Amino acid sequence: MATKNFDGAKRNKADEFYTQLSDIEKEMRFYREQFRGKVVFCNCDDPFESNFFKYFAINFKFLELKQLIATCYIGSPIANKELSLLPHESVENKTTKAPHKIVINEAVDENNDGAFDLPDIILSLTKNKNNTLTRLNDDGDFLSAECIELLKQADIVATNPPFSLFHEFIDLIIKHKKHFIIIGNQNAITYKDIFALIKANKLWLGLSMNGSNRWFRVPNDYAFSENAKHKVDEQGYHYIFVNNVVWYTNMDTPKRHERITFYKKYSKTEHKHFDNYNAINVDKVTDIPTDYFGDIGVPISFMHKYNPEQFEIVDALNRYALLDTQNTNEAVRNAKSHTCNINGIATYFRIVVRKKENT
Ligand SMILES: C[S@@+](CC[C@H](N)C(=O)[O-])C[C@H]1O[C@@H](n2cnc3c(N)ncnc32)[C@H](O)[C@@H]1O
Repeated sequence: MATKNFDGAKRNKADEFYTQLSDIEKEMRFYREQFRGKVVFCNCDDPFESNFFKYFAINFKFLELKQLIATCYIGSPIANKELSLLPHESVENKTTKAPHKIVINEAVDENNDGAFDLPDIILSLTKNKNNTLTRLNDDGDFLSAECIELLKQADIVATNPPFSLFHEFIDLIIKHKKHFIIIGNQNAITYKDIFALIKANKLWLGLSMNGSNRWFRVPNDYAFSENAKHKVDEQGYHYIFVNNVVWYTNMDTPKRHERITFYKKYSKTEHKHFDNYNAINVDKVTDIPTDYFGDIGVPISFMHKYNPEQFEIVDALNRYALLDTQNTNEAVRNAKSHTCNINGIATYFRIVVRKKENT
């Protein structure tokens, strides 16, 4: 179960990073066709503060969505305080920090200004019975029975879930067989449960963030750690620079059908063999030899180029935790090294891949 801790002081700080609209726009454009006629659920998203809700609401017509649902967690420290996209006072029923859900079924130009935007949504909540803002009975935890019922009605989950509950979140949406496009840390690729999904082609990377570092908005009273890179914008909003951000999805992307071309020939000196695992190592994806068809240890960055028609993911090697997904790396376990070594020196995390064809 999720940690129900509403005490701001003890709250997990990394859970309160708010995604910028531009980052959401950059990714969602790749899935336009896949959103048509679908129910989108943002289940870690206060509609009053989440740009995920904002993106799908203002693009409701463009994407031809069937329905948009967003639910808010009671514990959100900024609910009704800082990131207001909608003016709270204009909406009946909205109580400070109350967990609530918003359901949009229709995008109507309520104020007749020729466009559909946030003011129309606000008006629609009081005028149009097809769009509603209501209190949740429970606390808005994505694991609560009430939110799981909403999840069952959804086709696609789109959000940036709390970092500390990433495993629970993935577990839930996979269990309910939902499509999803969510934000996470690239290092999650090396988690045992996440890697197992990657290997089984049930989860892969989106296209726009590629493990880059991104600015996320944080509450104005956020206590930055000494090493954190942060800034305040001209409006006085606070941001933190977060490393290695990626999109995780199970929605199709063009990259998954693009062949990677290689130009290097296999060379025993350049493509070194692991001491304790039957595979060669490459440090850069472009170094994969054209004429080698055995197992190859590649860096995580391979996942940004991965085409499952061209490659099979066989295993993973990690010097910190043995990802024993296939029982093939017994030698590593027996040696108790938990590493993939070359000449006695551990390499970084490696994904072991094999070409599917002689290319
Ligand atoms: C990383 S923030 C992202 C917020 C928003 N999705 C966005 O991208 O801007 C995660 C959000 O999930 C909320 N949250 C924390 N625990 C939750 C839970 N168990 N169920 C639902 N939401 C939760 C946090 O309060 C926070 O608002």
